[in-house]
Amino acid sequence: MANHPKIAHTTEFPPETEQPNVFPLSWHKGTEKMEEVYEASRREVWDPAALPWDTFDVESYSWEEREAMAYWWTLLSVFDASAPPVFASAMIKSYEAHEEDAVRRCFFSVTQDEQNHEHMCGLAITKLLGYDDPLTYEPKTELGMKAQRNAKWLYFNGGRYWEGYKQAVPKYSLAVLFSSFLMGEIAAATIFHQMAEGAREPVFQDAFKNIGRDEGRHMAICMTLMERDYPKLDLTDRDTITKQVRAGYLFLSAVLFEPPTDFWDLPDDFIEVQRACEAVARDAGFHIPDYETKKENWRQAILNLKGVLDRYDIPFPAIPEVGIDGKEITDIEMEDIIPVF
Ligand SMILES: [Fe+2]
Ligand SMILES: [Fe+2]
Repeated sequence: MANHPKIAHTTEFPPETEQPNVFPLSWHKGTEKMEEVYEASRREVWDPAALPWDTFDVESYSWEEREAMAYWWTLLSVFDASAPPVFASAMIKSYEAHEEDAVRRCFFSVTQDEQNHEHMCGLAITKLLGYDDPLTYEPKTELGMKAQRNAKWLYFNGGRYWEGYKQAVPKYSLAVLFSSFLMGEIAAATIFHQMAEGAREPVFQDAFKNIGRDEGRHMAICMTLMERDYPKLDLTDRDTITKQVRAGYLFLSAVLFEPPTDFWDLPDDFIEVQRACEAVARDAGFHIPDYETKKENWRQAILNLKGVLDRYDIPFPAIPEVGIDGKEITDIEMEDIIPVF
C-alpha cells in the first residue's frame, strides 16, 4: 500500500478494479433452486456435540468392538477430514468467479457441513478409544493393532492427493469440479441413510441421519449447477470429466466398497483386516452394509451419475468392477484426484 502513489486528488472516480477480483461487490440472483437448498441448510443445522452422547455407554462394549468401530470412523475421516479444506478452496473459487450470491452461500454451507462431519468423526473416535488420535493410540487387542496399521496406510494414501487438488482447482472450471464432487455426494447420501437405519446406538442413528441429509443437499447443489452449466460445456472439459469419474470410483471405493489394489498402495492383508473389523462392528450393532449391499449401492450411485452425464453426451468411463461398461481409462494416480465427500 505504501508504495502506491495516491491518485484520489487527481481524478474524480477511481479506475476500474482489475477483474477477476476475489471479492464481487454484487449479489446477483440466478438459479432459484440454489436459494431453496441454502435455506434448507440453515433450517437443518445440527451440532455433533449436542447429540445424545449420555445414552452411549461405551463401557458396555468390549475393547475389540470399540477398536473395530473406531476403525470405521477413522476410515471415514480419511475422506471427511480433507473435505473442509477442499470445499473451502471451492468456496474461494466461487468468489473469484463472481458466482451467483446463492452459489457462494451454498458453498459456504457445504464447507460448514463437512467440518461438522469431521467433528463427528473426532467425537466418535475419541469416545470409542478414550484417546483423540487413532494413529498414535496404543491398541488394546490384536485386531486393534492390525486396524491401526490399516489406518496408517489409508492416511498415507489419502495424504497424497492434496497437492494435486490444489493445482486442479485453478485449472478447472467449477463445472468440472462439480462432476467430481457429485460422485461422492450421491454415494455418501445412500450409505449414511442405510447406516442410520441399521445403527443400534441413538447417537449414531442421529449422526448418520444428519450426515445423510447433508449429503443429499450437497448432491442437489452439484446437480443444480451441472444443469445450469453443462449445456454450454467445453469439449475439452468432457474428457476431463470422464477421467475424473473413473478417478472418483477408484478413490471413493475405499470407503464405499473396497479399495482397488492397483490404485491404492496397501499391504496384502489390508482387505482381510478391514473385513474382520467390519464383522466385529456389525455384530456389536454398528451397521456397516455387507459386501454385496455395498457393491449394489455403489453400482446404483454410479448409474445415477451416468444418467446425468448421458444427458449431456459426456462419455462414461468403464467400471467393470461393478459391471458398467464404457470408455477405457487407465493411468490414474492419486495426484489426479478431485472427488471428496
Ligand atoms: Fe458432502
Ligand atoms: Fe461429508
